[in-house]
Amino acid sequence: MAENQMDKLSALFKRRGFVYPGSDLYGGLANTYDYGPVGTELIRNIKNLWWKYFVQKRDDIVGLDASLISHHKIWEASGHAANFADAFVDCKKCRTRIRADHLLEDWISLNKDTDTANKSYEVLTHEKVSVAFATEKVEGWSLEELGEFIKVFEIPCTKCKENPGTEWTDVRKFNQLFPLQLGIVEGEQGLAYLRGETAQGMFVAFENVINSTRVRLPFGIAQLGKSFRNEITLGNSVFRTIEFEQGEIEYFFDPKKSDWELLFNDWKEMMWKFSTEQLGVSSENLRWREHADEERSFYSKRTEDLEYKFPFGFKELWGLAYRTDYDLGQHAKNSGKTLEINDPETNEKVVPHVIEPAVGINRLFLMVLNDAYVEDSSAGSGHVRVVLKLHPRLAPYKVAVFPLLKNKPELIAKAQDVYKMLKESIDGIVVWDDRGNIGKRYLAQDEIGTPFCVTVDFDTLEDDAVTVRDRDTAVQERIGISELAKYLATQLV
Ligand code: GAP
Repeated sequence: MAENQMDKLSALFKRRGFVYPGSDLYGGLANTYDYGPVGTELIRNIKNLWWKYFVQKRDDIVGLDASLISHHKIWEASGHAANFADAFVDCKKCRTRIRADHLLEDWISLNKDTDTANKSYEVLTHEKVSVAFATEKVEGWSLEELGEFIKVFEIPCTKCKENPGTEWTDVRKFNQLFPLQLGIVEGEQGLAYLRGETAQGMFVAFENVINSTRVRLPFGIAQLGKSFRNEITLGNSVFRTIEFEQGEIEYFFDPKKSDWELLFNDWKEMMWKFSTEQLGVSSENLRWREHADEERSFYSKRTEDLEYKFPFGFKELWGLAYRTDYDLGQHAKNSGKTLEINDPETNEKVVPHVIEPAVGINRLFLMVLNDAYVEDSSAGSGHVRVVLKLHPRLAPYKVAVFPLLKNKPELIAKAQDVYKMLKESIDGIVVWDDRGNIGKRYLAQDEIGTPFCVTVDFDTLEDDAVTVRDRDTAVQERIGISELAKYLATQLV
C-alpha cells in the first residue's frame, strides 16, 4: 500500500510537471531529476519559506551563498576527502552496485524471523547480529563484517534476485566527493571538489563574516544551495540524488556561556515547528531518532535525526548535530589562521562551538507532497478525486480562472478581465485555463494543489459575480468581482 503510494506520486510528478527523470530525452541519467514548471514553483516556495523563517525573521542569523566549486584543501581539512565514503558491493552476475549497509538493512527488515542462533562467524559476533536484527541498522560495521554477513546469510542481489551471497565482490569503500580538475592549473594544484555539503562554506567564510558584519555570539550563518555526492543507492524519487539542495545553519556559540544541550533542544523545537506549522505536515508522520555512537559522523558529539514517514518507511529528513569546534579547529590548523571571535564583555578570544541543523530541501518537497496527497471518494458513484491539500502558502498556483465556455467571446472577455485583475493583486501565480470541460479543469487543478478555482459564467455577465470553488471541500460559493481579490487574499495566507 505504502510502496504503491510512491508509484502514484511518481506518476503524478511526471503527469503534472512536478519532477521528470534527468536527461530523459537520452534515456535518463540515474539519480538525477529535473523539476518541471509546477515542481519548480513548489520547491521555490519551500526555500523562500525556510529562508524567511530561519534568516529574515531573526536577528541572530545571517545568510551566505558560497561557491559550489571549492579548494581541495577545504575537504582535506574537514576530513571528507579521507572519510566521506560508503561501503559498496557489486553483483558479479548483473553488475549492479549496491551500498552494502542498505543491502543488509533492507534484507533484515524483510527477513526479521531469520534464525541467527545456528550461524557461526569469524569477525561478527552473535550479539552484534542480534542488535542488527532488532534495530535494522548496521551503521559503523567494518568492511569485513558487512562482507561476512552477506556470505553467511547468502543475501541475494536486489536486481537479479537469484544471486547467492558467494557471488558478490568484496565490500569496498567509495568516496562520495566529486573531484574536478580545473583547466588552468596542472596536477594536484588544479584539484578542486564540488561541495559535498554546504556547511564547509560557512566555516571557511567564518572569518570574513565576523570581519564584515556586527555578529556576536551566539549567531548563525545560513545557506541554501546545491551539494553533490556520488551516491550509489538508487530509487525513491528525489529522496536521495547525486545533486541536491541543502538548507544548513551553523549556529556558533561560546560553550562557556551557552549550554549546548539547551541550544540543541531549542533547535529540535524549531525544526519540528517549521515542519508542522509552516509546511503543514502531520506530526503523526514525524519522529526523532538519536544516532548511536558508531553511527554518528566523525565530527559530531551528538546527532539526532528528525525522521518523516515516507512511503518507504521512516527516513531521515533533517539532521541536527553538535559539531563542537571540530571544523573551525581543523580549518585553523590547516590554513594557519586563528579562527576566533572576540567577546566584547571579557575581551577574550573565543573559538566557538557549533550546532548544525541540516535539511535536504528535496526531501522537504517529497514530504509535503506525500503528506498532502489525498484520494477523495466522498462524491460517491465510485469517483475518486486526487487532491493535493497543500498549505496555500506552498501551492504552486494560487488561483485558476476559467471561462465556462471557450467559444463565447463575451465570456472570454469578462473572464480575461477577472484574470488580469487577480494577476495584479494576488501574491503568487494566477493561471488561466479554458481547455476541456469544467470538470476536467477542476481535476487538473486539484492534482497540483491549486487552492481556488474561479469560474466566469453567463450569470457573471448579469450579476458581476463569479463562482469560487474550494479545493479541499469542493464547495462552491458565489462572490462579487469587486470583493474577489480581498476574499482570496485573506484565504491564501
Ligand atoms: N552538513 C551535514 C550534512 O550534510 P547529512 O546528514 O549528510 O549532513 C544533511 O545531510 C541533510 O541533507 C540530510 O538530512 C538530508 O535531508 C539531505 N541529504 C543528504 N544527502 C542527500 C542526498 N543524496 N539526496 C538528497 N538529500 C540529501
